[in-house]
Amino acid sequence: MNKQPIGIFDSGVGGLTVAHAIKQILPGESIVYFGDTAHLPYGDKSAEAIRSYSKRITEFLLEHDSKVVLIACNSASASAFDYLKKEFENRTIIIDVIDPVVDYLRTRKFDKIGVIGTKRTISSGTYEKKIGETSPDVKVVSLATPLLVPMIEEGFIFDDISNAIIRSYLSNDTLAGIQALILGCTHYPIIKNQISKIFNFNVEVVDSARIVSVILRDVMDKNNLLNDSGIVKDQFFISDYTPYFEKIARMFFEGEINLKKADIWS
Ligand code: DGL
Repeated sequence: MNKQPIGIFDSGVGGLTVAHAIKQILPGESIVYFGDTAHLPYGDKSAEAIRSYSKRITEFLLEHDSKVVLIACNSASASAFDYLKKEFENRTIIIDVIDPVVDYLRTRKFDKIGVIGTKRTISSGTYEKKIGETSPDVKVVSLATPLLVPMIEEGFIFDDISNAIIRSYLSNDTLAGIQALILGCTHYPIIKNQISKIFNFNVEVVDSARIVSVILRDVMDKNNLLNDSGIVKDQFFISDYTPYFEKIARMFFEGEINLKKADIWS
């Protein structure tokens, strides 16, 4: 059981930022990653569509022997986490990228927190709801920032174009006076430093990748699932393959990666 991989999925290759953090915090673990490149972006899809994609992907990850399944996508976490927990109740442990961040924020003393993410994540109101339940005195404001995913994927990072786009979003009145900003999309850790700089390092920029990896380690430890075999083998699948995905996957994973096509939709 312990040799089995950690299953991870995202709409595409953005979730590799989380996979990268997991490999740093849990170097002895194997991962099996699935990016649903045939259906991305999830940020523009309905909650129903995302739930049905997420169910099939979770089955695929279990077919590949995953001992836990991590939803490395905010749009899917916002739409499908409760649904997957129920569907796979007796079969595996499901972890999302939103609850660990909400728990982390409970330990901090902020009055006003901002969230940026895809249209799906922001319109779901999940962060407001969950932070409201655990920290009712905190004001949470959110803003959809849909241009950031294509901007990052096209390699506009730490340059004039990306600075202008990010500044334009972050100067929105809604975000005035925030003390922390949640990066509610797994693509955004790539521009975390750029965002911190735009705020003159006065706002805590919270990215889920590391926070989630630490929670994952604790959950696996508690359930005696940590791999102590010394054998590590990673696998990366996507549902539609182009060399372009291979190229940007390297940017998100910060290392060499070999993507295989898994045609789970036909
Ligand atoms: N990585 C996805 C997320 O965290 C965003 C990309 C998409 O819209 O598919 O929401």
